[in-house]
Amino acid sequence: MIGVRHASWVAAGLVLGAGACYGIYLLTRGRRRGGRGLGPRRSGSAEDLTSGSHDDVLNASQLQKLLYLLESTEDPVITERALVTLGNSAAFSANQAIIRELGGIPVVGNKLNNPNQSIKEKALNALNNLSVNVENQVKIKVDSSFLALYDGHVAKEILLRVLTLFQNINNCLKTGGRLAVRPPSPQGSLSLLLYGEECAQKMRALASHQDADVQEKAVTIIPEF
Ligand SMILES: *[C@@H]1O[C@H](CO)[C@@H](O)[C@H](O)[C@H]1NC(C)=O
Ligand SMILES: *[C@@H]1O[C@H](CO)[C@@H](O)[C@H](O)[C@H]1NC(C)=O
Ligand SMILES: *[C@@H]1O[C@H](CO)[C@@H](O)[C@H](O)[C@H]1NC(C)=O
Repeated sequence: MIGVRHASWVAAGLVLGAGACYGIYLLTRGRRRGGRGLGPRRSGSAEDLTSGSHDDVLNASQLQKLLYLLESTEDPVITERALVTLGNSAAFSANQAIIRELGGIPVVGNKLNNPNQSIKEKALNALNNLSVNVENQVKIKVDSSFLALYDGHVAKEILLRVLTLFQNINNCLKTGGRLAVRPPSPQGSLSLLLYGEECAQKMRALASHQDADVQEKAVTIIPEF
């Protein structure tokens, strides 16, 4: 049974995959006129894909298909593209709510466990856009291994993104420049982890990180503790 269901998800995904790739093609055609979307990709080109969100106007059923695709595919290239498209869609507040209602936040969150750094980055981009919405924040469930992403030796691209995530959550907690009483954080939620002592230690270490951008971002977050 599971096999059949899985197969139909894949089928739905493949149909949408074509659409999503087309969207990405539109986003990138200005820069990569000669490039074939599915060919081997230069490092950095995937990063370029995230730079233009204006063309993405996916409706709820398309977003749902995109989420099915993300759940069912093992292919890193498709995973990455789906995350980019989802992240761009999540720049719009209406979509942030739709993606939450479709149960999309854990689907994106699961991709944080992907060992591929490029995929981790895209998942974080999408989560960062989704986390602008306070109702979405409590839906971000991670296990304690997530805190390892705040270690000093982690790639700068990842560090800056996880710090942005922290910043987004902080921003929602602030009222009139001061931290409001924190809403109760559900067990296993990201905010419970971020405001724990283990994370505080990591943040203090990042405040003297050798990379100036990482350091600066960490320093802006720390006074909010
Ligand atoms: C969503 O967009 C697709 C493609 O444009 C269209 O075929 C579909 O009918 C739309 N669905 C809804 C519910 O608007
Ligand atoms: C990581 O994902 C990228 C983007 O899809 C892919 O091109 C690359 O081959 C993957 N790397 C590994 C080691 O799987
Ligand atoms: C959403 O994510 C994209 C890519 O990371 C970024 O360029 C854009 O500024 C984000 N939008 C918002 C509202 O945060």
